[in-house]
Amino acid sequence: MTDIISKKLESKIDNILNSKRKRKHLEDGFKKGKTINEVLDKRTVMTLYKMITDHIIAYVNGTVSAGKESVLFWAVDEDDQNVALKIYLISTSNFKKREPYILGDPRFLHLKKGTKNLVYLWARKEHRNLTQCYNAGIPVPRPRYVTNNVLAMDFVGENGAPARQLLTSDVDENDYSQAIILLKDLYQKAKLVHGDFSEYNIFKTENGLVVFDLASAVDLRHPNSDDFLKRDINNIVRFFTKRRIPVEDSEKLFEEITK
Ligand SMILES: Nc1ncnc2c1ncn2[C@@H]1O[C@H](COP(=O)(O)OP(=O)(O)OP(=O)(O)O)[C@@H](O)[C@H]1O
Ligand SMILES: [Mg+2]
Repeated sequence: MTDIISKKLESKIDNILNSKRKRKHLEDGFKKGKTINEVLDKRTVMTLYKMITDHIIAYVNGTVSAGKESVLFWAVDEDDQNVALKIYLISTSNFKKREPYILGDPRFLHLKKGTKNLVYLWARKEHRNLTQCYNAGIPVPRPRYVTNNVLAMDFVGENGAPARQLLTSDVDENDYSQAIILLKDLYQKAKLVHGDFSEYNIFKTENGLVVFDLASAVDLRHPNSDDFLKRDINNIVRFFTKRRIPVEDSEKLFEEITK
């Protein structure tokens, strides 16, 4: 049933695009493999459509932030709850940069070749990392669903405006302690090293810090997990030092987190 509707929708999209293509200024439209705004290639539109027919979301409101590797959309579910959709870009994907965070992780031993599959894998990896954290009681956006290059999670913030990152927040000693506890719980409870832990990937909410952007997180058994952890510690120590908050010694923190 859904299949028939999908086929119909697909041909509808094709028709619209074909007719638009005839108008000069939209020439590049959704040609096979081409993208609009770097995100909405036809396959991604179909993925979003399927998420609607599968009742994962009711509708998509618009973009919240556009990065080089992903774009974040604000969607709403059938209970009027805000949903964050992280859409990984297939066209601009730079897998070389991601390789070190997936090769060596025993959870992902069998890699299928091809950019598309690797982007899908990256989305699944972030979903899996979020789930591991969520189940361990670590404050992360609650993961909801992943399919192809689209990851759905709870929206942190209000009315389509994300909560403030640490970067743009006033911070105090309590935030520092919370950040260190996050690193420690990630390591000891979720058995993960974030890999991109910084003031950019932590929200400061009225209920405390929330860590996100977990695509780079690796299993503790990853051969470079210690190096990634050291870098994570250095990032956060550097940030709080800049903000004139007293910090502990990085090596001491490393010992404490890994003991
Ligand atoms: N669950 C969420 N709820 C609300 N906003 C979110 C959520 N996740 C991410 N965002 C917003 O989207 C931005 C980008 O998300 P994220 O850091 O996960 O992606 P990224 O790959 O690092 O993107 P960029 O290339 O922009 O750094 C965040 O800075 C934040 O403002
Ligand atoms: Mg980020």
